Amino acid sequence: MGALKVGIAGLGTVGSAVVNMLASAKEQLAERAGRSIELVAFASKDPPRDPSIDLSKLKQAADPLSLAKDPGIDVFVELMGGEGDPAKAAVEAALSAGRSVVTANKALIAKHGNALARLAEKHNAAFAFEAAVAGGIPVVKTLREGLGGAKISRVAGIMNGTCNFILTSMQKEGRSFQDALKEAQQRGYAEADPTFDIGGFDTAHKLAILTSLAFGTEIDVEAIHIEGIESISLADLIAADQLGYRVKLLGVAERTEAGIEQRVHPTMVPKGTVIAEIDGVLNAVSIKSDALELTLVGPGAGGPATSSAVVADLVDLASGRRSHALGRATANLAKPKRAAIQRHEGGYYIRLAAVDRPGTMAAIAKAMAAEKISLESIVQRHANSRPHGGDDPKLAASPAPVILITYATTEDAVRRAIAAIEKDGVLAELPQVIRIEKS
Ligand code: HSE
Repeated sequence: MGALKVGIAGLGTVGSAVVNMLASAKEQLAERAGRSIELVAFASKDPPRDPSIDLSKLKQAADPLSLAKDPGIDVFVELMGGEGDPAKAAVEAALSAGRSVVTANKALIAKHGNALARLAEKHNAAFAFEAAVAGGIPVVKTLREGLGGAKISRVAGIMNGTCNFILTSMQKEGRSFQDALKEAQQRGYAEADPTFDIGGFDTAHKLAILTSLAFGTEIDVEAIHIEGIESISLADLIAADQLGYRVKLLGVAERTEAGIEQRVHPTMVPKGTVIAEIDGVLNAVSIKSDALELTLVGPGAGGPATSSAVVADLVDLASGRRSHALGRATANLAKPKRAAIQRHEGGYYIRLAAVDRPGTMAAIAKAMAAEKISLESIVQRHANSRPHGGDDPKLAASPAPVILITYATTEDAVRRAIAAIEKDGVLAELPQVIRIEKS
């Protein structure tokens, strides 16, 4: 069989690393696939992120769309990113021409994956995206093929390297949020627009894909409750540490009685659990099923890790291994039943900037009791190390942090209790609420 001819659109961090890997591992890949994988053409609006890559023998397409339509390629590799055009139009053009697509574009799949999977099916083309979730970790393949015999009840994990890098740098090195984000950008971890990372949207895109693969449902990104890490302060990381937790941005999808719950938010995870110990750019995805539980850990971003997943998809295609994009024929994907976040049950960390005066704790306790929220611990630190505000009205009004850890309760109850405390006028700042997961 002749070589698998590849065209690549986008030569950023990942695209450059793919060009390098296809060149440096040429023989090994040909042995594995039984035929060679030949990069023949590229399209890129910018110079390559890695200026040392050799593009001299490649055809340069005018734009991604003409590359996608080029009959000289068998596979269109899309590494531009972005849920809209030019990525969307180019991927659609390739699939419509019966040309297989390999992409790392989680935003595109989260928004248009159902339609793209149908298009691929209709034209008998492969649509592969191992690199779209958790960088180099082969979690797509694990869910789609490796756990094909198991009934999955929960998928949860750290799916954004940038956020984990920021939270770890703040907690371990006392660095500022902005400083850590800058380094994540320099290392090529962050999205072109880093608000996708820190706002939780990138994690949500990845979670939407994993939920579909895990539960056999259509992708339903709109159902995801999303909170980012912007509100996490050093005070929260220090308090978490003292209480025996780490703060991680998690994506969680669970089968509950109410339906499928999908959420992305900062989470307190007990120290000593696998997830709590995953630091820096590492990602981890835990999968719970009737048959087994497992956690996959590895680098979630960066050129070498992500290009390894792109190239693995190319090896599958060159070998003739094909899967349904979302793990089963699109006609067999169920419409997901959504479970609202208000029905979420679990423990909560609540940090209140409470006015330091008599009656404050009573007001907080009363609101908690009214919602039948049971408290596992209460920590109050007096502002300015004073025992209390004394008679000085100015000092008496200054806020003192009160930290509550609740036993399992519901999201609704916590929201109502906090609203009642706010109404009592005993808070000087907006409360911080972080959900707790046991693993
Ligand atoms: N910006 C993403 C991250 C890249 O930080 O995880 C990998 O998808």
